Amino acid sequence: MAERYAKITGWGKYIPERVLTNHDLEQMVDTSDEWISTRTGIRERHIRTKNDTTSSMATTAGQRALAVAGITAADLDLIIVATSSPDYLLPSVASQVQDQIGARCGAFTLSAGCSGWVYALTTANQFITSGMYNRVLVVGVEIISFAVDYTDRTTSILFGDAAAATVLEVSDQPSGILASELGSDGSGALYLYVPDGGSVAPMSQHTIDNNRQFIRMNGAGVFKFAVRTLASSLKRTIYQAGLTPDDIDLFIPHQANARIVEHAARQMRVPVDKFYMNLDRYGNTSAASVPLALVEAIEDGHLKDGDLVAMCAFGAGLTWATVVMQLGTGEISLAHSLFSVERARYLARRTSDMVLDSAQSALLPLYTFLYERRKKK
Ligand code: ACO
Repeated sequence: MAERYAKITGWGKYIPERVLTNHDLEQMVDTSDEWISTRTGIRERHIRTKNDTTSSMATTAGQRALAVAGITAADLDLIIVATSSPDYLLPSVASQVQDQIGARCGAFTLSAGCSGWVYALTTANQFITSGMYNRVLVVGVEIISFAVDYTDRTTSILFGDAAAATVLEVSDQPSGILASELGSDGSGALYLYVPDGGSVAPMSQHTIDNNRQFIRMNGAGVFKFAVRTLASSLKRTIYQAGLTPDDIDLFIPHQANARIVEHAARQMRVPVDKFYMNLDRYGNTSAASVPLALVEAIEDGHLKDGDLVAMCAFGAGLTWATVVMQLGTGEISLAHSLFSVERARYLARRTSDMVLDSAQSALLPLYTFLYERRKKK
């Protein structure tokens, strides 16, 4: 049987019309455009209008992705929707998308916080490479604003709503998804969570009186986790693909905070301008963040056929997920042959990164101490 690879053949997005700028937030909480833009890089975000639902946004993004791929909903074998903000607790929002888009296939919702879409892409890749399915629609969508407390300046400035979708199709050409990593550390569950509304604490008057229906976040904790994870997971996955960070044409990180990306780029010894960012216009759109950046990177010409892309998301869970892939068609020179210049270069860079990583891990307690001391001053 011929090898099966999974390639992105279609992409699309849906952005709600309503814009919430930093200046708007200045009227709502004790903050400033200057603080938000220097500490996060965010200038504005989009918030759902009354006509937008999670399923309608996902459906529109999905229809646009199908049009680019040149297929119809009837051609789909599976729909995976990554979200933490479904229309309802039940049914699964993926079934609503399947119905609204006019498909007759299986559909399920996947929840892994902001890492959801990268988890979903990896899952879709497994269905395709195993031979079970040929065409999968993978959507990342979020109306995260419904869980944001707009009286809390530490979270309200970060999040926005959006949807983005990709069509993944089988191919016999050796490209597409080359390597991926899925990660979880549930010991950090309370770093980023919504206290009430689940089975432990169903919604009640106590919920409303104490704002327990909204996101609570240990921002500094998530920040440190994010920097460490973004750099290390990207490197592990790139090496797993037989590549080095220098081979990657474009990095697409989760769009949470520009400072997280800058720190990670420094740790990886990669110029920050190789990291695509559109968070200034959208903020953190959770599960929609990485696919939205991918769609825009393709649309605005940052990516072309044959380019190598490394995408990494992190978020509630705590979770993380990384995918290294090649877009379109193209020859990849993997460093797998035993004796070659590429192989020597690959081994040298991998070894030096491993030594640096070990040194950084050993120094982590010192960095943490210095960071806490600087903050206290
Ligand atoms: N405006 C003005 N001041 C503020 C604001 C604000 N919006 N928010 C916090 N401050 C104040 C704080 O109260 C604090 O004041 P104090 O020193 O008097 O106590 C000061 O600014 C510094 O606060 P820090 O929390 O140290 O600010 P920091 O530089 O760490 O930035 C931020 C906070 C932006 C939240 C950062 O920690 C961050 O980006 N963390 C990661 C968050 C993240 O990515 N979350 C999403 C994960 S993905 C998912 O699954 C949803």
